[in-house]
Amino acid sequence: MKPTSAEPMLPRVYSLRESKAETYDTWTLELDPVGSPEDFPFAPGQFNMVYGFGVGEVPISISGDPGSPEKLVHTIRSVGSVTKAFCTMKKSDELTVRGPYGTHWPIEDAIGNDIVIVAGGLGLPPLRPAIYELLSHREKYGRIVLLYGARTPEDMVYTSELKRWRARFDVDVDTTVDAAKPGWHGNVGVVTTLIPRAPFEPSKTKAFICGPEIMTRFTLMELQKRGVSTENIFVSMERSMKCGIGFCGHCQLGSAFVCKDGPVFRYNEVQPFLSKREI
Ligand SMILES: Cc1cc2nc3c(=O)[nH]c(=O)nc-3n(C[C@H](O)[C@H](O)[C@H](O)COP(=O)(O)OP(=O)(O)OC[C@H]3O[C@@H](n4cnc5c(N)ncnc54)[C@H](O)[C@@H]3O)c2cc1C
Ligand code: FES
Repeated sequence: MKPTSAEPMLPRVYSLRESKAETYDTWTLELDPVGSPEDFPFAPGQFNMVYGFGVGEVPISISGDPGSPEKLVHTIRSVGSVTKAFCTMKKSDELTVRGPYGTHWPIEDAIGNDIVIVAGGLGLPPLRPAIYELLSHREKYGRIVLLYGARTPEDMVYTSELKRWRARFDVDVDTTVDAAKPGWHGNVGVVTTLIPRAPFEPSKTKAFICGPEIMTRFTLMELQKRGVSTENIFVSMERSMKCGIGFCGHCQLGSAFVCKDGPVFRYNEVQPFLSKREI
């Protein structure tokens, strides 16, 4: 069942407890509710509408651990005025949050299956809660494979966590970069090049994909070549949003609203719309 907070429509004030630089343009923010302590239950893949005073409101995925709902965590790339304001916040600075909104990765339906997670760039933050959840019930799943691609080694987020996951014997982590510099000893190439050799059984695999749409399209093709059915492939979509709750139509994708019917869709549902920025 999808957890929701008591008043998901009501913006609540949060203050910055800690901000950690992930890369040169991306920060992970840990937020505390202002006033009394309050849990923030959510399901992996859901997002919040986060408002910066005087700058505006944008959708941001929740990137923390659903098993620790007392900690609200967002990982944000500074790309414009609102995200820049969040990434330059100082300890105790305030913002408001409403949510959680949207659909989630089908973690429970995937019990008994192999899981392949394919993330490109800032596609990893919306998948990290799913990884936490899968690992906290590790015995319920078959192989768990994480394939992560970034533009360069400097663009990789969660590098120490990736090392920790890689050190486990029960998760297969493979990473790649589009362009390397001297000193990089890992794979070079787009993330889809990792799929042919990834250790999973296609007939009993659920795949979760998040990243740029072009990456999503090529990932689907590679997964299909391996024999994964499109019914078992789930993607997280991004569209610009205003209300976040299915009222304004800003995020419309065919007959669906990404804020309400997504962001996580079964691949078949969104295949015709991939690569079209706004419908
Ligand atoms: C469901 C959902 C979840 C998201 N989760 C995250 C997250 O966890 N972390 C995060 O950093 N961002 C996330 N985003 C993207 C984030 O909402 C945008 O980066 C933000 O709205 C940009 O606002 P701005 O005012 O800072 O920049 P703007 O001034 O609005 O835009 C700056 C530049 O970024 C481009 N841009 C804006 N939005 C997007 C987008 N969605 N995708 C690609 N380019 C974009 C614009 O075209 C422009 O060139 C998510 C978006 C959605 C829909
Ligand atoms: S953002 Fe308003 S309908 Fe989705």
